Amino acid sequence: MFADTTHKYYREQYFDIASAEEGASALASTSKAGVRDTDRPLIVQFCANSPEHLLTAAKLVQDHCDAVDINLGCPQEIARRGHYGAFLMEEWDLVYNMSPVNTLHKNLSVPVTAKFRVFDDVERTVAYAQMLERAGAQILTCHGRTREQRGQNSGLASYAHIRAVRAAVRVPLIANGNILFSSDVARCLKETGCDAVMSAEGVLYNPALFNGLQPSPGETDLELTLDITNPPLAPLALEYLDIVRSQRTRTSPSAVKGHLFKILRPALAQPKHHDLREKLGRVKVDAPRRVAEGEQWVWVDEYVRICEELAARLEADAKDLTKDGTIPLRELITKDAAMGLDVLPYWLSQPYFRPLKSPVAKKDKAGKQGKAKETAATAGAGAAVLEEAEKGLDLPVKRPSCATEANDGDEVEAKRVKLDVAAAVAA
Ligand SMILES: Cc1cc2nc3c(=O)[nH]c(=O)nc-3n(C[C@H](O)[C@H](O)[C@H](O)COP(=O)(O)O)c2cc1C
Repeated sequence: MFADTTHKYYREQYFDIASAEEGASALASTSKAGVRDTDRPLIVQFCANSPEHLLTAAKLVQDHCDAVDINLGCPQEIARRGHYGAFLMEEWDLVYNMSPVNTLHKNLSVPVTAKFRVFDDVERTVAYAQMLERAGAQILTCHGRTREQRGQNSGLASYAHIRAVRAAVRVPLIANGNILFSSDVARCLKETGCDAVMSAEGVLYNPALFNGLQPSPGETDLELTLDITNPPLAPLALEYLDIVRSQRTRTSPSAVKGHLFKILRPALAQPKHHDLREKLGRVKVDAPRRVAEGEQWVWVDEYVRICEELAARLEADAKDLTKDGTIPLRELITKDAAMGLDVLPYWLSQPYFRPLKSPVAKKDKAGKQGKAKETAATAGAGAAVLEEAEKGLDLPVKRPSCATEANDGDEVEAKRVKLDVAAAVAA
């Protein structure tokens, strides 16, 4: 659809080139005093099943981004119907044909990367990743869940699978899954040997999640760490609305509402604040695509009023429950009964974890079914659980020391990817 000129509005909606903010190297609108905000590095992701369409779409954005990613991980029904994402996992020839080596590399000025899910089988996962590398992907992101692990069946991502891929490919590998708290970042890097981590839901619920990478939590007082990685949620939501308002690029009111519900979730779940939850739910999201100048932020103002009211209430709650700050926050942290994960005071940004439904069957190296003990109490989003699940796999974390595959003789000259992802997360 992005490549197709008959869907022009679709293109504008998902990559608004005219407003010159997507992929801008300096964003005046969100810069604060002395800080030049940018939208780089930026990777634009497409799902596709046709090399020609993918190339056409990629060419439209190549001057505004640092790389183009192929989505090989989407497990949703829409992807099954559309025949893309994780539903190409059995069609290696098609994936290879869409790949940089064959079509994109010769015609694009930016590198191509790929994001994929694991197979049950570790060896098959590794072979798939190696095929993607051979095909010319210059960064890979491995989501450690299978195509079937979605929705209520999400369960935990397998770091054993990711670690095996890390050991088998040469390109930078980003690990994805199980990152809920900032302390999970270091654990994930250590357990997988990856160059970087990616978080989706964790960051959606707590956009400050990665703030905690410095200083290292181990060396810092927990109260200070919480302040950085899990700050009060209402001001965070207000900051988000400020960013939305400062952009020329439009964000749909319903998308903003979705983000607010996630960020504010712990507070809105408190019965005493249910009235604000309902108020937020009632804000109209059917704003017209084009509204008169000056009227365009009316709906944002409504969101702001609700967040300000919540911020005032939560400040009072915090004062009350910490007895004017004399009770340290760490004493107010409880454990989720089912998951054993930390539940922070409800005015602080934090992850949402749905209870794990049932143990997810994993196959071990020999192909035997093993069961992950996913109900045990865990530290850092499932460390103990994963350790249990991964026992016996004995997978090396070492990378190959020389070029693994020669791209079938078709030389892929390494285009420089200006993405200092590893530095960003490992700092
Ligand atoms: C709301 C939402 C939208 C997502 N959209 C995409 C997408 O467009 N492309 C993609 O590769 N993954 C997408 N994902 C999957 C995430 O990138 C990620 O692989 C997955 O959520 C597991 O990571 P997590 O455990 O940190 O959430 C999406 C996830 C969520 C929750």
